[in-house]
Amino acid sequence: MIIARSRQELQAALDTKRGSIGFVPTMGALHIGHRTLIEAARRENETVVVSIFVNPTQFLPGEDLSKYPRREEADFKICELSGVDVLFYPDVAAMYGSDEVRVCAPDVRGFILEGASRPGHFDGVLTVVMKLLNMVRPSRVYFGKKDAQQLALITQMVENLFMDVKIVPMETVREKDGLALSSRNVYLDEKQRVEALKLSAALKEATKMVMQGNLDAEKIKEAMMNLLKPLDVEYVAVVNRQFESLKEVVIGNTIVLVAARVGTTRLIDNVWM
Ligand code: PAJ
Repeated sequence: MIIARSRQELQAALDTKRGSIGFVPTMGALHIGHRTLIEAARRENETVVVSIFVNPTQFLPGEDLSKYPRREEADFKICELSGVDVLFYPDVAAMYGSDEVRVCAPDVRGFILEGASRPGHFDGVLTVVMKLLNMVRPSRVYFGKKDAQQLALITQMVENLFMDVKIVPMETVREKDGLALSSRNVYLDEKQRVEALKLSAALKEATKMVMQGNLDAEKIKEAMMNLLKPLDVEYVAVVNRQFESLKEVVIGNTIVLVAARVGTTRLIDNVWM
């Protein structure tokens, strides 16, 4: 595995490769969710590139940028064992200058739900993903459905800016008990870990209601809110794939989402139906 820390090193590494490139952008603290993306990239491409970069522009002031888990050694091992060819591991100076051009999230879709709770977050995500895609120039790029709005906005960026890359969405990987894997789960203590199960339980209830023919969005949200008590819920939402709010679930074109705080840790989860 080649470890590249600058654009020049990345380019030199890619120059030695032929065929399709599968790319998995991450912020590190890799878990099985990330590994599933890497394994799909491995199956479907000649060359696999993973980036690990804790992108400062997507953290708001007061968020967990400085304490975001950093696990260089373990992450390098996981990449190596997963058959990654090139690990791109830049520092901030390799990615950003001063007074730069940025990508702006769309006015509506970029500022609802996650974008309402974290205004400016998606500008940072889109900007760094644009930079990374321009540097790696992959055939396919892999994203998790766990970050549904991020996936939708990146898909929209690729369409709106006529970018030449195929986005491959991947299912959310969960613990046996339902908790969606997240690098931020390490912030949870034992008791909070149990409380956190309320998110997946609420989504399970939503799925059950839909399977029983209860498609009314308000009723679904109400049932979810009851199960989420006493967590500090930021939103529950029923939207279509374009992130437009729905009054009724449309099977095949609905995402039910939740964001809540467990202690000081902010967790998100969703189910696609
Ligand atoms: P990060 O949170 O490290 O996630 C990297 C990728 O792994 C994202 O596409 C995310 O959706 C996916 N992922 C996370 N948890 C998952 C799970 N439980 N199951 C399946 N996939 C999962 O998302 C980011 O980093 C950043 O915003 C990034 C896109 C790298 C831009 O900085």
